[in-house]
Amino acid sequence: MTKVIAHRGSKGTHPENTLAAFKEAVRVGSDGIELDVQLSKDNQLIVMHDETIDRTTNGHGEVGSLTLAELKQLDAGSWFEKNPMVQEIPTLEEVVMLLRKENFQGLLNIEIKTDKIHYKGIEQIIVQLMKSQRWPFEYMYSSFYFKSLEKIWEIEKNQTIASVFDMSEEKEKRALQSEFIEGIHPKIDWVLEHVEDLAEFPKAIRPWTVNEEEKMILCFSHHLAGIHTDYPAKALKIRELIQN
Ligand code: G3P
Ligand code: MG
Repeated sequence: MTKVIAHRGSKGTHPENTLAAFKEAVRVGSDGIELDVQLSKDNQLIVMHDETIDRTTNGHGEVGSLTLAELKQLDAGSWFEKNPMVQEIPTLEEVVMLLRKENFQGLLNIEIKTDKIHYKGIEQIIVQLMKSQRWPFEYMYSSFYFKSLEKIWEIEKNQTIASVFDMSEEKEKRALQSEFIEGIHPKIDWVLEHVEDLAEFPKAIRPWTVNEEEKMILCFSHHLAGIHTDYPAKALKIRELIQN
């Protein structure tokens, strides 16, 4: 069954990459949760999508130019007009603790945000955190930056690793040639362009960002491994409808 993976949490209904968005993703029954990880100035694992804090907080500047203590002063939720709420920027450890508390049983997709800024040593720090405790749920690593995936593979041979890309033929080819790559996370447009080849594709396919009903139906009916969506509740409802 195609996994419904909440993109940056339930991004369509709650401020992205916040504990509120992840809690909502669990509440609606998402099969998976995706988040983006970067490094603060003092090498802490920060859950945020953009390389700067300007769009999603009340602060300014690059994530990597601020310490965790400085980032923790900011509000990462009031900017979201649809459903504003005061939220801290979470660390990866805080998200994992929340998922444990909420008894999340699904898949956590940790996207290493190193495509624009190559945070030195981030892969090692993430693997260390994830291995330091026995997390009671499944997790995987993904990145747009292939070198991060290779580093993860060097450090940790037992984890699922996926390559994220938009429409890159080169990245698709590289993913196919690399045995350690379990799957691809392409832009949904890639799926639309490759409809004829989906059944034969030899690796897992989990596109992003699948928000429209007809695109969800297409992915479900082709039994893709998963979809990343801003609206997990809507996707789950549609999946249930087409299965019955
Ligand atoms: O990991 C899938 C998706 O999150 C990739 O795009 O830019 O939302 O991180 P982005
Ligand atoms: Mg992402």
